[in-house]
Amino acid sequence: MSTYVVVGLQYGDEGKGKITDVLSAKSDYVVRFQGGDNAGHTVYVGEEKFVLHLLPSGVLQCKGKCIIANGVVVNPKAFIKEIETIESKGLKTDHVFISRRAHVIMPYHILMDTYREEENGGTQIGTTKKGIGPCYEDKIARIGIRMIDLLNPEVLREKIEKNLKVKNSIFEKYFEKPTLDVEEIYNEFLALGERLKDRIVDTELEINEAIRDNKNILFEGAQALMLDIDFGTYPYVTSSSPSTGGVCTGAGVPPTALQNLIGVAKAYTTRVGNGPFPTELDNELGENIRQIGGEFGATTGRPRRTGWLDLVSLKHACMINGINNLVITKLDVLSNIGKLKIATHYKTEDGKVIDYFTSSTTKLYNYEPIYEELEGWEEDITKARSYDELPANAKKYIEFIENYLGINVYLVSVGPERSQNIIRKELF
Ligand code: GDP
Ligand code: IMO
Ligand code: MG
Repeated sequence: MSTYVVVGLQYGDEGKGKITDVLSAKSDYVVRFQGGDNAGHTVYVGEEKFVLHLLPSGVLQCKGKCIIANGVVVNPKAFIKEIETIESKGLKTDHVFISRRAHVIMPYHILMDTYREEENGGTQIGTTKKGIGPCYEDKIARIGIRMIDLLNPEVLREKIEKNLKVKNSIFEKYFEKPTLDVEEIYNEFLALGERLKDRIVDTELEINEAIRDNKNILFEGAQALMLDIDFGTYPYVTSSSPSTGGVCTGAGVPPTALQNLIGVAKAYTTRVGNGPFPTELDNELGENIRQIGGEFGATTGRPRRTGWLDLVSLKHACMINGINNLVITKLDVLSNIGKLKIATHYKTEDGKVIDYFTSSTTKLYNYEPIYEELEGWEEDITKARSYDELPANAKKYIEFIENYLGINVYLVSVGPERSQNIIRKELF
């Protein structure tokens, strides 16, 4: 019995879904605590590919309950679509529940996100246009609509009316776009509430009871620390806290209940969307890694930017999260690409060498990574299942990361499939 938190340590898409899927087989609960359907978590079961956006990746294997907790922003239509997809593949979903406190992504959030992104032509932040930022804004401004509101016709109508007064005026006057109709949205969301009512519950009670009953509880993060609203590369971030700290507020769990803090990092770095990326390889090698690693967004299909592993940012992410177990994914992608580089320091614009991450996003664009060069390996490692089966240079690569961060790598992932793992220490 224990609690496990799986979080991303880079810019998202580290393979959290795959790891959550593997760990969820032994979990009584799998809980999403932040983000929304901006996430894209891929799980391969044999040849079959599942991409989960809003549902916890545990939905495929967890025998207990899957919970979308209060910190998540929920697009009910996306939720239903995902439930239907999973059910069409013969799997059950009656173990999935949503917090009554979770905020609802409304059509005006999606439009606001889209219009802002498209302002002045081009993309501003490079969001997923799922309405995430505007929904969290309304939550903080205390004008948001919560899942519980979908079950109360009077409250729902009043809130939609109030919100649309302001939003419609922005759409019309500022963006010069059409306005939305109160009646249409009210009817649609009332019907969605009716459809989902049996799944809308007080999740914090159940989660805390499960903690008291010594159940295995897995908290699944979406996005990653470098996209964290406080500790990422602001403003090129998402609007939630994808850190281990986010579990406490996002699921209603006390900090003392969190035990195994599992950080997932790719053996290199990718980023989708705008923002600084010190170790980016904007060249043929970067394109090579993109092709071999299949680095295309699971939610938007956008090509992911690729680059070398950045230990400066990884150290920052491990510090903020208090990671005590590391997972390195996609080591197989680095096979046969020659010498490998790992950033250990940055050189600032005035020539200072530093090994910590900066709060100045603007300055970061001018920082130059300082690399350690490691020998690569040529062998295909996708069939390795024990650490000893890895080539010496692949082991050196892993151990270099461990030594720099002072944290053990407990799992090395060598392929997208469930079984393609090297587990050095069982956590469960
Ligand atoms: P997430 O958002 O962190 O869950 O990650 P994504 O699912 O968006 O992206 C990770 C991609 O890498 C998916 O296509 C996975 O199937 C794939 N993947 C995960 N682990 C490995 C691995 O060890 N090797 C390879 N080659 N692919 C992996
Ligand atoms: P998973 O869970 C990678 C990025 C977007 C954009 C920024 C803000 O699959 O790792 P948002 O729509 O959240 O307002 O966009 O964050 N982003 C992700 N990048 N993986 C994700 O999720 C992401 N979710 C958001 O590309 O740069
Ligand atoms: Mg993803």
